[in-house]
Amino acid sequence: MAAVQLESRTRYFQPRRLGHVNLWVKSIPVSEDFYHTRCGLTVEFTEPDLVASFLGTGATPHDLGMIQVTNGVDRYGRNGLLQLPGTIGRDVGLNHLAWELENEAALVEAYRNLKADGIATDITVDHQVAHSVYIFDPDGNYNEYYCDTVKNWQSVLKGPMDLITSHWDPLAETPFTEGRYDEAPEWHVVDSAPLHPRRVTHAVLQTPKLDALRDFYTRISGLRVVTEEEGACFLGGSLSGYPYNLVLVPADKPGYHHVSFELKDEAELEKSLRRLHTAGVKVEGETDLPWKRSLFLRDPDGLLSEWYVRRAAPRTLAARGALSLARAV
Ligand SMILES: [Fe+2]
Repeated sequence: MAAVQLESRTRYFQPRRLGHVNLWVKSIPVSEDFYHTRCGLTVEFTEPDLVASFLGTGATPHDLGMIQVTNGVDRYGRNGLLQLPGTIGRDVGLNHLAWELENEAALVEAYRNLKADGIATDITVDHQVAHSVYIFDPDGNYNEYYCDTVKNWQSVLKGPMDLITSHWDPLAETPFTEGRYDEAPEWHVVDSAPLHPRRVTHAVLQTPKLDALRDFYTRISGLRVVTEEEGACFLGGSLSGYPYNLVLVPADKPGYHHVSFELKDEAELEKSLRRLHTAGVKVEGETDLPWKRSLFLRDPDGLLSEWYVRRAAPRTLAARGALSLARAV
């Protein structure tokens, strides 16, 4: 019976889009300064007791979260929640990818179906502006599936906060059915920074198990395969304003490659390059391809980020020349 049920369930979560990326960092002050003063992300709120900071463009409650590595020591949220066991976050890199769902009913239904089918989930939490369910993918990348619970999140989270997160029981109450994401967000710009990003759009993961990850991100995450090219798999949520939100790239070793932020237009990208040069920020590389123009930066922990504009010509990855597949997608 169980096998029949599994086969009939083709998708669990059904995200709208990638809401944010969360990184493990060595030092919050150092990384926060880099992403704010260099990259132009606004510090929306911080959580000093969790050693965490949340930065964004206004598109979602935050585009980029960062938590200082645990060094093997447990860190607790509200009401005794073991939020960050010392077994995770021992090194810098990806903490999680966060997927925005339509509403709480969709999140709870996916959670119920996973339980019914015997698929393990990790913690379920209340972030005060979101409810979340967490799961690891087959490579050990951590994923958060969340619904916004407060439309005006800035009325709840602003500046330094006491501990934010507590346990949440997805089955305790009748879930709400309306979308509480902000459909007309105000764009937050850091005028003094060289970069003025509009929004986070996608992340790139490398994997030696592309088939297993494609299965996870389509069946469990509920993303759709937009296209596959040169072995790379492009996946998207349901929101049409994003061509894709995740790219899986075949590689010998698993790992997070980079996060990508969209800039306003080509003129803005060229101005950004000049401002980065003036500010003495090293650009790790540029792409100038028929389908995109971009620059890459390495943060103080060595983590890569891309700042780009999309171009109209169709993508032809075979024409990328010496550029690596992970940077060309
Ligand atoms: Fe998150």
